[in-house]
Amino acid sequence: MSYFRKNIEAAEGYVPGEQPTDPSVIKLNTNENPYPPSPRVMEAIRQIDPEQLRRYPHPLANAFRDKAAEILGVTRDMIICGNGMDDILNMTVRAFSGPEAALVFPVPTYTLYGVLGAIQASVVKEVPWGPDYQLPFEALVQARGRVTYLANPNAPTGTLVPLDEVARLADALDGVLCIDEAYVDFAEVNCLELARTRPNVLVLRTLSKGYSLAGLRFGYAVGDANLISGLMKVKDSYNADAIAIAAATAAIADQEYHLQTRRKVIQERQRLASALADLGMPALPSQSNFLFARCSRPGAAEVYERLKARGILVRYFNSPGINDRVRITVGTPEQNDALIAALREMVA
Ligand SMILES: Cc1ncc(COP(=O)(O)O)c(C=O)c1O
Repeated sequence: MSYFRKNIEAAEGYVPGEQPTDPSVIKLNTNENPYPPSPRVMEAIRQIDPEQLRRYPHPLANAFRDKAAEILGVTRDMIICGNGMDDILNMTVRAFSGPEAALVFPVPTYTLYGVLGAIQASVVKEVPWGPDYQLPFEALVQARGRVTYLANPNAPTGTLVPLDEVARLADALDGVLCIDEAYVDFAEVNCLELARTRPNVLVLRTLSKGYSLAGLRFGYAVGDANLISGLMKVKDSYNADAIAIAAATAAIADQEYHLQTRRKVIQERQRLASALADLGMPALPSQSNFLFARCSRPGAAEVYERLKARGILVRYFNSPGINDRVRITVGTPEQNDALIAALREMVA
């Protein structure tokens, strides 16, 4: 006999990428930023007063909401914060989906959407992407989700759906469209305008990638004040801690540092993409901080294993349709050089 609800018993749970303890490993497997966070973040953490830890944090993280509202050109009541974007995703799944309310997304994508749906016993509908990862517009609309997820740029492909198509999708859907912009800091465009102007659009963001704060756990969503106030009912009471609020506020305030880091990552992405193409491992066009490279000889599983044996971690997904590729996070120039050298030996 199991103590668990049937859907939990049947669920598989999310499998995160490996987090090696050996600091010499070149870690290009979980799309972390290779550069440190802004010095202003470390300063804000140093400034934490013990009194801030004795007390509960602000339940809505208003210091961050105000700073983000100013930078994004929205109002505070259009922002909700969370313990990483995963926390916000969890809120939206709980708020909008259920056994009678479908949760829809194109696949392949971030696997957490399906995992959270399974925990919630929600109807989960996966819709395959169109050729070359084009938006499967009709199929998504016909799936009639109470909530539809679109990672844009998508993971693990790095591809981007043009804004006019996302807008058309938002207008055609009956339910809520959650646009997961985890990687938008490395893209040329974003969907913030849709969150400002559409009653059914939420744009979800994280400080894990573009602001080098994956270890801190801070994410937020922007949308119509009605949607945000509904989500407030679902969130944990104190879902962002005092240190995270202070550090995240300092990070988003330092746009100059953020834009510098962004520029460096994008430059390296371009260099790495052309090196991979030269090696016969072409990647999909990426608007993110990673490249999804096709491996033919040796195959993707072997590339992953052989790189790992040399202390370089990339991500391999043993799933139909994507098991001929490895996903490589863009690292520092030195890390990318080491990767390119290892791959060059491998294909020689
Ligand atoms: C597409 C996508 N969305 C959301 C997340 C989660 O972000 P966070 O670290 O803020 O929970 C990730 C993390 O890798 C991701 O790839």
